[in-house]
Amino acid sequence: MKDKILHLLKKNGDGFISGQFISEKLGVTRAAVWKYINILKSEGYLIESVSRKGYKLKVCPDILNKEEIDPKLNTGFIGRNIVYFDSIDSTNTKAKELALNGASDGTLVISEEQTMGRGRLGRTWTCLPKYKGIFMSVILRPELEPAEVPKITQIGAAALVLAFKSLKIDTYIKWPNDIILNNKKLCGVLTEMSGELNKINYVVMGIGINANISYYEFPEEIRSKATSLLIETNKEIVRKDLVACVLNNFEKMYSKFILNGDISEALDVCMKSSILIGKKVRIINAKHERIGEVLGLDKGGELIVKMEDGNVEKIVSGEISIRGLNGYVS
Ligand code: ATP
Ligand code: BTN
Repeated sequence: MKDKILHLLKKNGDGFISGQFISEKLGVTRAAVWKYINILKSEGYLIESVSRKGYKLKVCPDILNKEEIDPKLNTGFIGRNIVYFDSIDSTNTKAKELALNGASDGTLVISEEQTMGRGRLGRTWTCLPKYKGIFMSVILRPELEPAEVPKITQIGAAALVLAFKSLKIDTYIKWPNDIILNNKKLCGVLTEMSGELNKINYVVMGIGINANISYYEFPEEIRSKATSLLIETNKEIVRKDLVACVLNNFEKMYSKFILNGDISEALDVCMKSSILIGKKVRIINAKHERIGEVLGLDKGGELIVKMEDGNVEKIVSGEISIRGLNGYVS
């Protein structure tokens, strides 16, 4: 009911809409309308009430629910079903649970806060103040070989870089899943999959973006490694616009991949914005660490590295982490 009232207020634009009209249209009492208007106000919607005129919606808050994000999407299926939380342990964990219970292809799980966010390789994605970060996961049901799934991370990373570019912010990708700004980590992509040998049940692509977080809101231990859009630009961004832009970019490139196996556009973005190409790096897995020079990405999205012994190898993201010779990226 609350969503229907909000919809009517939005449709009415700049004018007033009477409580009587809303109650007749939606078949509820005027007292109920008043109650839902108060709930909307408590969520941050600025609604003017004038006796004998009714209600007028003046300002919508930057919250990430369906009502706010859906009108900004130009997608066919990505984000068309939105499951919204005020707080959740991890949107990836929730998305996996929903996927297991049949949630549709493209479903977006999004939360204003995450209390047990996860990164790659069992790492933690920090809990940040509510309404300031972006924590979202997209459920995908592609008909692909499981070995193709890492390409989805590359498409996600490219979608992020393009979204930042439209805000006039140049970011870099630290292959395979980190977005870097000013040599610090701005976002991460975590792609998880459930499948069998040659069949995918579902994929969950999770994205965490440090949007409007100030320096002191980061836990001390990651302050030297993490950054946010607010820190780098001194401006608060409208999170719902950014979410929609990322999803719009993602669907364009993902659809090409699913329909024609074509990830050239995404890889082109990943190549052009790679922070690693041309650099000497440490290539770390559970057992050992090697040094090599990054030459590029191959057409499958794997990292091409010239090792110290002169051999050229293709690295699959899997259990590998890349670091600069002296620090996180350099
Ligand atoms: P790699 O992806 O190369 O293996 P990584 O250190 O970036 O290395 P990830 O698993 O991608 O590791 O990301 C998790 C790490 O990111 C955490 O261990 C922490 O250091 C850092 N981190 C956690 N939360 C945030 C955040 N909100 N912003 C930036 N960095 C974060
Ligand atoms: C990484 O850098 O290792 C990936 C971090 C991914 C964090 C996002 S936040 C939304 C989604 N839910 C999670 O628990 N993780 C991802």
